[in-house]
Amino acid sequence: MGVAEAYRSFGRLEARGESAVYEELARRVAGDAELVRLIEDLPYRQRQPNLLFAAVRYLGGPVEDYPAFRTWTLGAWERVRRVMAERRTQTNEPGRCAVLLPVLAALPQPLALIEVGASAGLCLYPDRYRYRYGDGPLIGPQDSPVTLECRVDGPVPGGVPDGVPGGVPVVVWRAGVDLNPLDVRDPDDVRWLESLVWPDQPERLRRLRGAVEVARQEPPRLVRGDLNEAVEELVAAVPAGATPVVFHSSVLVYLPGEARESFTARMRRLPGHWVSNEPPGVLPSVDELMPLPAPEGRMVSMLALDGRPLAFTGLHGQFLERFS
Ligand SMILES: C[S@@+](CC[C@H](N)C(=O)[O-])C[C@H]1O[C@@H](n2cnc3c(N)ncnc32)[C@H](O)[C@@H]1O
Repeated sequence: MGVAEAYRSFGRLEARGESAVYEELARRVAGDAELVRLIEDLPYRQRQPNLLFAAVRYLGGPVEDYPAFRTWTLGAWERVRRVMAERRTQTNEPGRCAVLLPVLAALPQPLALIEVGASAGLCLYPDRYRYRYGDGPLIGPQDSPVTLECRVDGPVPGGVPDGVPGGVPVVVWRAGVDLNPLDVRDPDDVRWLESLVWPDQPERLRRLRGAVEVARQEPPRLVRGDLNEAVEELVAAVPAGATPVVFHSSVLVYLPGEARESFTARMRRLPGHWVSNEPPGVLPSVDELMPLPAPEGRMVSMLALDGRPLAFTGLHGQFLERFS
């Protein structure tokens, strides 16, 4: 797909309904021959709309008004290009903990969490956030700066969150792996994470900042590397008495098919549990067990425990639609 078409389809399929600012920006870039030519000169990996728009915002450029965006971006192109070469789209969405929590809370406690593709590790703190499922009561620690709202259709998988004290799992150990771990103590990394949140989503930005505050109190142990190479060592490091849980959300979707298959085989071999939250189509052996076809016309992830599908979920953890 050419650059103009990629930006046009990003605006239509990904931004529409989520971010009016990005929808308009993508549409206008697609029709701007000078900008399209500059983007075409970038390596393939660096041409994504998300990366360009985040780079401009990271450098303090405007995105809400196209003529201003265009003038600024053309004038600062060298700096924009450098950020796009150095950074990756590593959106870290703590909201996804809302769909992981009921599954985690139903496992034998206490837990040792291992997140593969952790970004800055903000999903490693499901026990430190507050939650409201539908119009149910708020659960989780009262002093948390993060409250996650999640719409639920059908019972919450696992029948929790009432089953454990305080409604949240007991986490005694947490670690993660990422090709490029981001550090919640590094102001540049945090500014990059903030730039990856779309501009007209103030609630997501608020919860990101709250989650960074939580993670800074006890920064996660994150190792740099490929998930297939690192995961066994991390599982082996889990302290005795804790249930190892390897989980991932919106990560395997970025891996080639072969790497996904070898990860799936590893998960079936390793002790403990495996929680996956990836779009349908990413894990064919799990898809085969899906009792419903993936919905058309909206993007969802599929939540599964040990390879058994449980629910469709919102990409940012905003809903949980249980299969039975
Ligand atoms: C979209 S982010 C999702 C982060 C986090 N799981 C969340 O849900 O907020 C995907 C992350 O996966 C990481 N990643 C992609 N391929 C990887 C691999 N082969 N090994 C380790 N990490 C990987 C990326 O660097 C990025 O930080």
